[in-house]
Amino acid sequence: MRSIIDVLDLTVEEINELIQVALDIIEKPEKYAEVCKGKKLATLFFEPSTRTRLSFEAAMYELGGNVLGFSEAASSSAAKGESVADTAKTISCYADIIAMRHPKEGAPYVAAQNASVPVINAGDGGHNHPTQTLADLLTIYREKGKFADLTVGFCGDLKFGRTVHSLINALSRYKNINIVLISPEELKLPSYVKKDVLKKNGIPYEQTTDLEAVMPKLDILYMTRVQRERFFNEEDYLRLKDSYILTPEKLKNAKEDLSIMHPLPRVNEISVSIDKDPRAVYFKQVLNGKYMRMALILKLLKEAGLL
Ligand code: CP
Repeated sequence: MRSIIDVLDLTVEEINELIQVALDIIEKPEKYAEVCKGKKLATLFFEPSTRTRLSFEAAMYELGGNVLGFSEAASSSAAKGESVADTAKTISCYADIIAMRHPKEGAPYVAAQNASVPVINAGDGGHNHPTQTLADLLTIYREKGKFADLTVGFCGDLKFGRTVHSLINALSRYKNINIVLISPEELKLPSYVKKDVLKKNGIPYEQTTDLEAVMPKLDILYMTRVQRERFFNEEDYLRLKDSYILTPEKLKNAKEDLSIMHPLPRVNEISVSIDKDPRAVYFKQVLNGKYMRMALILKLLKEAGLL
């Protein structure tokens, strides 16, 4: 049974296919309106979410299927001590496919090992968020028309930001990608990502604390929130939370065709006055996420012989 835990579980060719399906869904939604009739998606969210959970649910409804699930651990039997493995075995009796978010890294993998239906990782701790990466890749494709020959700046919490780790992994498979890592010292990209992804794949990268200094060279600026929920103490969070606040002033030297991305939710790191700048594409990212999740649900259900 195929599950998607890491974006690298999908080949570059498969990602291209998912993008083509998503583009077809955007163009001809009526063609897909009943393809999942009678099928059920379970959304098991042990951690808060707005976009990922609701876009998975919207995706399944727009495919003609149904949705069941829970949006917090407290309303599931995890609160009584049930294991992730037993939860996965149980939900397999009710649903055809599972989307799971969990604060513990590796929990969706454990679920996939125990489920008899496909499991999609909807974000596990500070580790990975493959369907956000699919949303990001469709956004990059629609904005830039390519994945190669790009300088991509990641700014903010690069330590705990799972969307950053996933997207760097995905981009490492394309040609002529330059990565610029912009963060405070304490929130630098973990060394294992630098070693196992950037260095291993020969991806040129630089690290800086100065966003404005590197702004002119960026084709994409991927802003991120400082992840309060992953800090051990509130004092450190409060000290670091406003390290970067993108304002129109800071974009003065940016490229005309820069794409400003953010997985959202936003706290302070992008001024709302930037929302009307045509280079701000973060709400397009939100919508692209729904289309890529539709494409992924279709792919996994087909591979499982359920469509
Ligand atoms: N981007 C993202 O994962 O948003 P949510 O936490 O709202 O799902």
